[in-house]
Amino acid sequence: MISGAARLAGVMGWPVSHSLSPKLHNYWIKQLQLDAAYLPLSVHADNVKDEFRALPKVGFAGWNVTVPHKEVALQCVDEVDEAARAIGAVNTVTVRADGSLLGSNTDAYGFAQNLQEKAGKIDAKKAVVLGAGGAARAVVFALKKEGFGDIVITNRTQKRAEELAEFFEVKAAAWEEYAKELGDATLLVNTTTLGMAGQPELRVRLEELPKDAVVADIVYKPLLTELLKDAQARGLRTVTGLGMLIHQAVPGFEAWFGLKPEVTPQLEEYLLS
Ligand code: ATR
Repeated sequence: MISGAARLAGVMGWPVSHSLSPKLHNYWIKQLQLDAAYLPLSVHADNVKDEFRALPKVGFAGWNVTVPHKEVALQCVDEVDEAARAIGAVNTVTVRADGSLLGSNTDAYGFAQNLQEKAGKIDAKKAVVLGAGGAARAVVFALKKEGFGDIVITNRTQKRAEELAEFFEVKAAAWEEYAKELGDATLLVNTTTLGMAGQPELRVRLEELPKDAVVADIVYKPLLTELLKDAQARGLRTVTGLGMLIHQAVPGFEAWFGLKPEVTPQLEEYLLS
């Protein structure tokens, strides 16, 4: 039941119909029996700034921001947190008591929580990150926070890898030669779109990795990518991507609705159904 006093939140994107966030947040709202709703907010680029000002006036407690508005959202809030500033993108907005907007980025938190939940303790020695897009920024930020001593970014377009590596003060390696970096890596992360349904497969020479290395993919459609299947066949520990999406949603939900929601295997199954 949604009463006249219901708390409101949503996800702003263009298009937004593909987003799993309404299904996810409304699952928690139902489970926790809250008087609340989480809505898809289809907002064209021309209207993003105006919507940021309008939503608090109609009672929104906050909202998520998704593609393609995450970067412009930085300019639409009154204050940004450390992660949003470093990653260069806002994915969570909270309306504060005085009406001002706090922009945060919970993608790095989501990645780190999922990694910990699925792989347990990882030796934070050396991570190899495939890709240099927005997702890679969040992953590298998270890995630095986790204390990885050595982080190597590799990307098809080398310039992007070099720029990202320079920004985070880590290393870049040529896409054709990154296999050389795998021999002493404790973690390999795919942040590219390769392996996603409809995209080409990602081929990695996993035989180069040490036996106790962890392989993580942020792709979640399919949940078990060919990369992860190959890693499992070799006895390596693997981390699927859907948990990152679920965990990144937790801080926003808690800020808007006042309760910390639970991340369970049943929730992953529900989102995949
Ligand atoms: P996001 O912000 O979601 O990470 P993105 O910025 O479009 O998305 O980044 C997609 C990543 O997948 C990039 O690292 C991209 O490599 P380029 O920078 O060279 O474009 C990578 N990617 C996409 N298709 C690829 C392909 N066919 N081969 C190798 N890398 C690919």
